[in-house]
Amino acid sequence: MSEYLENFINTKFRKSSKALDLGAGDFCDVKNLEKLGWECEGVDLEMGIDLEKPYISKNKPFDLVYSNYVLQRIKNKKIFAKTIYDNLKNDGWFFIHTFEKNDPVIASGMTKDFLQELLEKKGFKNIEMKIFDHYDKGHKHWHKILEASGRK
Ligand SMILES: C[S@@+](CC[C@H](N)C(=O)[O-])C[C@H]1O[C@@H](n2cnc3c(N)ncnc32)[C@H](O)[C@@H]1O
Repeated sequence: MSEYLENFINTKFRKSSKALDLGAGDFCDVKNLEKLGWECEGVDLEMGIDLEKPYISKNKPFDLVYSNYVLQRIKNKKIFAKTIYDNLKNDGWFFIHTFEKNDPVIASGMTKDFLQELLEKKGFKNIEMKIFDHYDKGHKHWHKILEASGRK
């Protein structure tokens, strides 16, 4: 599982809860969360769920909605923020990893201010933003990661 997601969960949750992964890819994070006792749903374009459009899960509400390295591919970012909001419990947490505008590899990254404003306008609270460098050992290059977390 993403070490960053694991750290986030360990800080915010005392017990296994219910999570939604937006853009789950190979479901690696979903499977690892399930091993930890979480009830977890993952959705992806590969399974016909296009997050350019609103998505409301029949399993909602979730304690955690997270999305790793997907938002930079989404054109309709307002709809994506709404999908996070609408699937969360009141006081539930969101966690997003995407690429910052100055990422040396990915051209579609965004600024911290842009993402923060999008999340504030949607009505999220306790928003925390981080930018940091991460070395991708598999691809042997650096990324500039933009992390956002907060509550409904
Ligand atoms: C870089 S992968 C990240 C996968 C996974 N979250 C991870 O951290 O390993 C990006 C994923 O976003 C999905 N994706 C891209 N555009 C999408 C869209 N419009 N709707 C849903 N999923 C999308 C892709 O199919 C792909 O699985």
